[in-house]
Amino acid sequence: MVVNVHQFKQWKRDGRAIVVLTAWDYMSGQIVVQAGADIVLVGDSLAMVALGYETTLPLTLEEMLHHAKAVRRAVDRVPLVVDMPFLSYQVSVAGAIHSAGRVLQETEATAVKVEGGHPAIAPTIAALVQVGIPVMGHVGLTPQSVNQFGGFRRQGTSAESAQRILEEAKAVEAAGAFCIVLEHIPAELAQQISQTLTIPTIGIGAGAHCDGQVLVTADVLGLSSWQPKFAKAYGNLRQSAIDAAHQFCEEVRTRRFPNP
Ligand code: KIV
Ligand code: NA
Repeated sequence: MVVNVHQFKQWKRDGRAIVVLTAWDYMSGQIVVQAGADIVLVGDSLAMVALGYETTLPLTLEEMLHHAKAVRRAVDRVPLVVDMPFLSYQVSVAGAIHSAGRVLQETEATAVKVEGGHPAIAPTIAALVQVGIPVMGHVGLTPQSVNQFGGFRRQGTSAESAQRILEEAKAVEAAGAFCIVLEHIPAELAQQISQTLTIPTIGIGAGAHCDGQVLVTADVLGLSSWQPKFAKAYGNLRQSAIDAAHQFCEEVRTRRFPNP
């Protein structure tokens, strides 16, 4: 039985950390499930990790569906959350319901994630929840707004912007989201939001006081060619992979592979 998304509120009350890891295909899905993640997120960071784009903006809904279906084949016992790509939920509430509905229908995801808060997105979150689509929120550095921010910059560094992010987080909770990602904001602000909300906060570059943490799995594995400063590599898979593939090249060229 898959964990019910509402159970995570109890985890928060119990002080039990919630671990979220991203996946972008069948293999990465298998890895994070076997590693014991509590939630698998098909983040639109796959635009950068798996497709080589510089931002998440070029990813389409069709491309996301393609990747999420692959991840789904690896995930059966933990909730699967799928990021709504840029433009798939901002145009209208009806459009958002249609896009998110397709995600649940075609990928059998448990929930979707949308970026932003009050006032632009909160009514959309409420509408999705009303038709039965659980929503994970996401405030702070919301990468789909990278051009508006002028780069992947830390948010909430001024008193005014910190207040705005707190208000957005409250609006996301009031709209019915079951949890919320806090990305690249000061630790004190993330702590304040975590203490104010009853839904769990999932931090990334937001300090140690969030109710859970998320990282992009390629960064955790040391597989990325670049990673943000707040990420931590627990392995060095990129170099291991290059070494293994290089050894194969060498053995073929020197006729040591295959052996007789
Ligand atoms: O796209 C993504 O991977 C995300 C997480 C880092 C929260 O949104
Ligand atoms: Na994302």
